[in-house]
Amino acid sequence: MGNTTETTNEIKVKWRCPSNIAIVKYWGKKSVQIPCNPSLSLTLSNSYTEVEVTVSEKTTHEQVELTYYFEGEENQKFGNRVAAYLADNIDSFPYLNMVAVTIQSKNSFPHSAGIASSASAFGAIALAMLDIAYQFEEKEIDDDFYQKASELARLGSGSACRSVFPSYSIWGEVDGIEGTSNEYAVGVHNIHPIFKNYKDAILIVEDEPKKISSTVGHSLMNDHPFAEIRFKQAEKRTKELVDILEEGDIDSFIQICESDALTLHAMMMTSTDYYLLVKPGTITAIEKIMQFRLENLVPVCFTLDAGPNVHVLYPEKYQDVVEEFINTELKDTYKKVIFDHEGEGPQKLSI
Ligand code: PMV
Repeated sequence: MGNTTETTNEIKVKWRCPSNIAIVKYWGKKSVQIPCNPSLSLTLSNSYTEVEVTVSEKTTHEQVELTYYFEGEENQKFGNRVAAYLADNIDSFPYLNMVAVTIQSKNSFPHSAGIASSASAFGAIALAMLDIAYQFEEKEIDDDFYQKASELARLGSGSACRSVFPSYSIWGEVDGIEGTSNEYAVGVHNIHPIFKNYKDAILIVEDEPKKISSTVGHSLMNDHPFAEIRFKQAEKRTKELVDILEEGDIDSFIQICESDALTLHAMMMTSTDYYLLVKPGTITAIEKIMQFRLENLVPVCFTLDAGPNVHVLYPEKYQDVVEEFINTELKDTYKKVIFDHEGEGPQKLSI
């Protein structure tokens, strides 16, 4: 069974799953975790979650008997969320009726980094739990495995479904792009060399937990005055971005990337219960990036997640000049910076 440790009563697997950053953003959802619009993201490399999952004999009569550790300490709060997720999806993990499960989880990035960890966490959990289901059924890991893992990751946290694939991936049905689905993500395969090993330096402007969760943010799209226009725009942009990634059209990439980040935040600022997540450091960094691009003709751009941190995106061949700019001119805008880049997707690890 490959990298699996097995004693008579115990199966243990270990998976690493990276985080991802959306270029076209998912914002607004229907039941159950169905996106209101398609999204397209870049899978990262250095920002990841690792989970080690052990199944052993049950000691209670609970349907899902889970003990969840985060960085060596039992974490009841996230453990309860994971237990509820496993119970909701018991049909995919039927072995949970018979065995207890222990998850040891850790992130490569500091907790206070303000990086959304649910994408990498649910990516890793779905992969590991499905791997165990496959072992009980004596099935080999194949392409269907990743599709199913993506679907299960989505049910834990929407954006997690894109982390199951390397490089770039799309989640959500796009008219005219075969294979796309609202249920799971699919990889984007024709990528121009300029977009390979694409860099993402994450400027941690603020490291406090955000006051408004993404769940609340998504729900505010339900009666948002601009919702329908936004959903159509995101589908159009996703479609255009697929061609842009293939052709290596970096100017159009920058245009869509920055505009979509600002549109996401504009949606927050214009919902009925409006709110604001950007901070002064966010605005200063954005202005400096745009000015640096104009003055130096370097194709660097920004995107934002649902928070104040700024993702600085640039091609590998401009790495030195952009990193120098980040370390000097942007220095006062952030508390720390994480240098990351396009990654190769999840990995099963040996134990
Ligand atoms: O996956 P969720 O529910 O945390 O939502 C994530 C939404 C954004 O990060 C803002 C955009 C995206 O597509 O990842």
